[in-house]
Amino acid sequence: MRILVIGSGGREHALTWKITQSELVDKLFCAPGNGGISQVAECVDIKADNIPQLLDFARREKIDLTVVGPEAALAAGLSDEFTKYGLKVFGPLKLAAKLEGSKVFAKELMAKYNVPTADFRVFDNPGEAIRYIEKIGAPCVVKADGLAQGKGVVVAQTVDEAKKAVSAMMQEKIFGTAGNKVIIEECLQGQEASILVFTDSKEIIPLVSSQDHKRVFDNDQGANTGGMGAYSPAPVVTPGLFKEIMEKVIYRTVDGLVREGIIYKGVLYAGIMLTKEGPKALEFNVRFGDPETQAILPRLKSDLLQVMLATSDDKLNKFSKTGVLDWETRACVCVVCAAGGYPGSYEKAKVISGLEEAAQLKDLVVFHAGTKKSAAKYLTNGGRVLGVTGLGNTIKEAIEKTYQAVGKISFEGMHYRRDIGRKAVVSS
Ligand code: AMP
Ligand code: GLY
Repeated sequence: MRILVIGSGGREHALTWKITQSELVDKLFCAPGNGGISQVAECVDIKADNIPQLLDFARREKIDLTVVGPEAALAAGLSDEFTKYGLKVFGPLKLAAKLEGSKVFAKELMAKYNVPTADFRVFDNPGEAIRYIEKIGAPCVVKADGLAQGKGVVVAQTVDEAKKAVSAMMQEKIFGTAGNKVIIEECLQGQEASILVFTDSKEIIPLVSSQDHKRVFDNDQGANTGGMGAYSPAPVVTPGLFKEIMEKVIYRTVDGLVREGIIYKGVLYAGIMLTKEGPKALEFNVRFGDPETQAILPRLKSDLLQVMLATSDDKLNKFSKTGVLDWETRACVCVVCAAGGYPGSYEKAKVISGLEEAAQLKDLVVFHAGTKKSAAKYLTNGGRVLGVTGLGNTIKEAIEKTYQAVGKISFEGMHYRRDIGRKAVVSS
């Protein structure tokens, strides 16, 4: 089969790395890909959101399955366009992608179908939003309705901070039309976990649990990032909690969509806060998580491509009869090595050293997020540069293995968190 993966981050390196292990693959492309991805796939210079060019390429190259990494193209209707031309896609249609593309849509769906989530109100008028914040006080959470590259959520500790967020989103329009509406919601407390499932809306097959680390510095300090590391499993999600999340969040959401006439096909990602009153959904993503995917896929023993094909072909029920997903019991940890200054401004084109030494370690893989190949060298080419990923019999062992590999890698300005996975050691 001829497969195209869309995207250029660590998630897409993990996806291509795993897909290439399938015996069904004859040829693997990635658009646009990165330095590391070029080791396992042919990179094609088309941006991940350029739907017309991606469509042309897929038609010309007779692609059998296109796997979409990032959300923007899904929200803009990539799957709808491809489907029109008879091309198979792994990723939901535009209407279903609204679950991530519009937080108002997601929250209203959750309210209607009794999915536990933070109490909220929707506003399309900044004055009313500000009066509401004055009434409920802080802390509270302000969310832009639309896509804002992961920056559209402000967990405000003071009334002033919340009001500023409203005016930045609704009046200064820092996220453009994504801020036409905002949600003000209750601030939840607890540990977070990511639960991902494959679904074709008839069948749901869960992946293993994982946890991201959003803040830039150790002990969850500093600015929010795209994710500084992840681990799987998240022991805080006990089997009982997993079942509760599946029943109250995942099934109710997928069934709710079906009742609204919306068929969801692809991977569905629920961000969950484990509160004292039980698990509550924070958000949905209509794609794999980054960096969760890097910590999840090395644990998957089954053929990823087969499950993706079954999802796209509405045959997940048959797939689950022949064998649900087979997982490593070992734990996996991914530590992100970031460019100096990230998540603020940073420089590119720094030479990365130590990649070969790190790769020689057993049960260790270095996923590239922002790199570029230049002759025999890899150069930095983004904020998140690498996702160093290791397996171990326990989380503790996986942590030690991964940091041993991180210690071999360097580039000017490199920084990383030193506490990835620590919460799992404390709670296991
Ligand atoms: P989202 O983009 O909705 O995942 O939000 C990004 C991050 O904001 C989440 O991972 C949480 O850490 C935080 N967050 C979102 N909603 C809430 C909430 N209601 N209470 C507390 N934290 C939240
Ligand atoms: N790790 C968070 C995300 O992929 O949105």
